[in-house]
Amino acid sequence: MIKTWFITGTSSGFGRNLTELLLERGDRVAATLRTPSRLDDLAARYGDQLWVRALDVTDTGQIRYVVDAAFAELGRIDVVVSNAGAGVLGTAEELSDAHIEGAIATNLTGSIQLARAVVPHLRAQGGGRILQLSSMGGQMSFPGFSLYHATKWGIEGFYDAFAPEVEPFGIHTTLIEPGVIRTPFFAAAVREPEHPAYADNPAITREDIPLQRMPGDQSKVVGAMIRIAELEQPPRRQLLGSDAYTLVRDALTQRLEAVEAQREIALTTDADDFQPAATR
Ligand SMILES: NC(=O)c1ccc[n+]([C@@H]2O[C@H](COP(=O)([O-])OP(=O)(O)OC[C@H]3O[C@@H](n4cnc5c(N)ncnc54)[C@H](OP(=O)(O)O)[C@@H]3O)[C@@H](O)[C@H]2O)c1
Repeated sequence: MIKTWFITGTSSGFGRNLTELLLERGDRVAATLRTPSRLDDLAARYGDQLWVRALDVTDTGQIRYVVDAAFAELGRIDVVVSNAGAGVLGTAEELSDAHIEGAIATNLTGSIQLARAVVPHLRAQGGGRILQLSSMGGQMSFPGFSLYHATKWGIEGFYDAFAPEVEPFGIHTTLIEPGVIRTPFFAAAVREPEHPAYADNPAITREDIPLQRMPGDQSKVVGAMIRIAELEQPPRRQLLGSDAYTLVRDALTQRLEAVEAQREIALTTDADDFQPAATR
């Protein structure tokens, strides 16, 4: 059956590749991006199958306007893909105020406001799917990438609580958690000037990874996203890539061990008259 998709950040990488694959198989795509002319070639080839609008996800008013227009003009939208995002490489001390605000506005606030804008429409039509691009970096971290992790851990926390709020309406959400994938993402990432005090710390991520040394394949990730959106019961989270699977499994194992090590002190701070059964 032909489906209709709404996607942010369709100028390059996953967003552009997903738009191409969906159009090729006959689906309809509402493609949004900061520079609509970058889809002129697809617009010429696919006509009415492709609906294109300008959208900078840091502009909440524009998110609401474009989402409302898409549902009004296209009717039902089956899958929303919150994909737009950007990286900033630099230690906490190296980050500029403008880059902190920009990354949070794009990756975190933009994603939250997109979710809030689409939910009333998905609820009114009786359900739908939302794929939110997170990262393996939404569950583990690399020193030198703290700002990006703050945005991806942030959106993970939002969706963790948001998913059970909207599932009773037939709205299923999945956090997509890729490892390092061969897209223009790292080439496009902002790199802060290095502070000499951090120059000798080998733990800090700075090196440019050549595309061939990145484990993940862009089209395979996009193919997996399509399959996940079509599952009867999609998972709330999906890791993609052997690096994502191994690094997140190791990080969570270590965190669970750390939780167990905290047990003795954690259990000393309840009020003397606290009765667990009476709390809810
Ligand atoms: N590639 C990876 O290894 C990897 C791993 C985990 C997660 N991810 C996530 O995957 C998503 C897509 O990234 P990608 O790998 O496909 O890289 P990409 O090719 O750099 O794509 C990023 C997209 O986001 C758009 N974007 C950035 N800021 C925007 C804004 N304010 N408003 C609207 N669009 C904006 C970019 O548009 P412009 O052309 O206008 O800048 C571009 O279309 C991101 O959320 C990223 O965090 C990527």
